[in-house]
Amino acid sequence: MLQIAPSLLSADFSNLTGEIAAVSNGDMLHLDIMDGHFVPNISFGLPIVECVRRMTGLLLDVHLMIANPLKYAEAFAWAGADLICFHLEAQPDPRPVLRAIRACGKMAGMALKPATPVQRLEPYLEELDMVLIMAVEPGFGGQRFQPGALPKIQAVRRMADSRKPDLWIQVDGGIVPETAASCVQAGADVLVAGTYIFRSPSPAQAISQLRLLQPR
Ligand code: DX5
Ligand code: ZN
Repeated sequence: MLQIAPSLLSADFSNLTGEIAAVSNGDMLHLDIMDGHFVPNISFGLPIVECVRRMTGLLLDVHLMIANPLKYAEAFAWAGADLICFHLEAQPDPRPVLRAIRACGKMAGMALKPATPVQRLEPYLEELDMVLIMAVEPGFGGQRFQPGALPKIQAVRRMADSRKPDLWIQVDGGIVPETAASCVQAGADVLVAGTYIFRSPSPAQAISQLRLLQPR
C-alpha cells in the first residue's frame, strides 16, 4: 500500500494544531530533526515531538538529521516517535543505533543522502523496517527533486524483493505529483512531501492526489 507522509517542516508553526488536523488523512507524520551540525540548518527538537504526539494518532516518523543519533534515539522514542530514521553517513557503525531503537520497541529506518551509494546499506537490510532515499540534500524544504534518486530506489527495491519484501522504501525531497509518479514506478511506497502538501490550498486534497498513484 502506498503511504503518504506530510513533512511538518513546511507547516505554519504558529498553528500546529490546525496544520496537523489538516493532514489527518495522511498515513504518518514526518518530523525533520536538524541539529546544525549534520546539516546546515536547525529545525525543532524533543519538546515539539512531545507536543505533536499529544495532538495526533498518526504514526510519527522521525527523520534524524543529527550528528549523534546513538545519543538521542532513546529520547526521541520516549518523546513519542513510532519510527526512528537516522543517517548512515552520521554513523560509521549503525548497529548500536539499530539496537537502541529496537530496545525501545520502535521501528527503525536508515536514510541515505543523494551521494551515498545504496550498497552501503546492504549489510543491514534485514534489520531495517524502512530505507529513506533522499532526493535532495538534507537540510531544507522546497528544493528541486534530483532524478538520481530513481535508480537508487530501484536498486533498493530489487534488494528488498529478494531479502526483505516488507521493507518500506521512503523518498523525501521535491515530491510533487509528477516526481511522485516516477518514484512510485521505481518502487517507493512511502512519499514524504512538505511544500507540496502544506503550501497547497487544501492539504487534505494534496494528500488524496498523491494517493491516486498505484504502488508496484
Ligand atoms: C529535507 C527534509 C524534508 C523536507 C521535504 O531535509 O528531510 O523532509 O521537509 O520538503 P519538500 O517536500 O518541500 O522538498
Ligand atoms: Zn525529512
